[in-house]
Amino acid sequence: MSGDEGRAASRRWWDHDADNYQEEHGAFLGDVDLVWCPEGLREADARLLGDVKGARLLELGCGAAAGSRWLVGQGADVTALDLSAGMLRHARLAAERSGVHVPLVQADALALPFRTGTFDTVHTAFGAVPFVADSEALMREVFRVLRPGGAWIFAVTHPMRWVFLDDPGEGGLMAVHSYFDRRPYIEEDSAGVPTYIEAHRTFGDRVRELTAAGFVLSDVVEPEWPPGHEEVWGQWSPLRGRLFPGTAIFVARRPSTT
Ligand SMILES: C[S@@+](CC[C@H](N)C(=O)[O-])C[C@H]1O[C@@H](n2cnc3c(N)ncnc32)[C@H](O)[C@@H]1O
Repeated sequence: MSGDEGRAASRRWWDHDADNYQEEHGAFLGDVDLVWCPEGLREADARLLGDVKGARLLELGCGAAAGSRWLVGQGADVTALDLSAGMLRHARLAAERSGVHVPLVQADALALPFRTGTFDTVHTAFGAVPFVADSEALMREVFRVLRPGGAWIFAVTHPMRWVFLDDPGEGGLMAVHSYFDRRPYIEEDSAGVPTYIEAHRTFGDRVRELTAAGFVLSDVVEPEWPPGHEEVWGQWSPLRGRLFPGTAIFVARRPSTT
């Protein structure tokens, strides 16, 4: 699939799904909160971004941008970016509800409309990275907009989930797909036009695409399913979460000498 086809499919998909996504997950995500993943890990507890007071941050694939609004309260100067006008409409509605406003930008994470070295930190919770065919190019683009020494933190579906069916129940406990099959998951309409794309990278692929772009990887957080957390989110459930990870959060840095 070409980059243009992928971009068009993602934009259509997220525009179409925006109301549904907010209806299903809006309450869990909150209006002003940075929740990294369906396991419920919050930045308020994890502090993966470090001290952001006075820092220039960019959130990629922000959706309704609850995380960006929370970071404003921490003293950060945040810009929130998403490909989908439908998702950004929810960001505007949530800004009106909460009274916390951040600049919203509609753009593709593969072509960021910012000058080289603009940001201290770029982050995303499940935005953009899984939905682009060429995530190597995305890593290079994030590297470009970060200042030397800047941080890149992104949460994605844990690579090992690829082998299982997208099922939160017993059916999602049996390995059925090859971990090594890098062909993307693509849905098409009746005319054969792609309507949804999700790409797979193994753990090693993720490390290699980061280091090839110039990043130094400092941590990979695999949040455990917390006791008493019963909320199912798509394929994420207490049943599966007790047995194996559903999320991987990569913490990387652009070296200060580049
Ligand atoms: C699973 S949602 C996550 C939204 C939000 N980060 C959250 O935690 O709820 C994925 C988001 O990535 C956005 N996205 C997908 N492809 C993108 C791209 N190429 N550039 C920028 N955003 C993209 C979608 O529009 C959508 O808002």
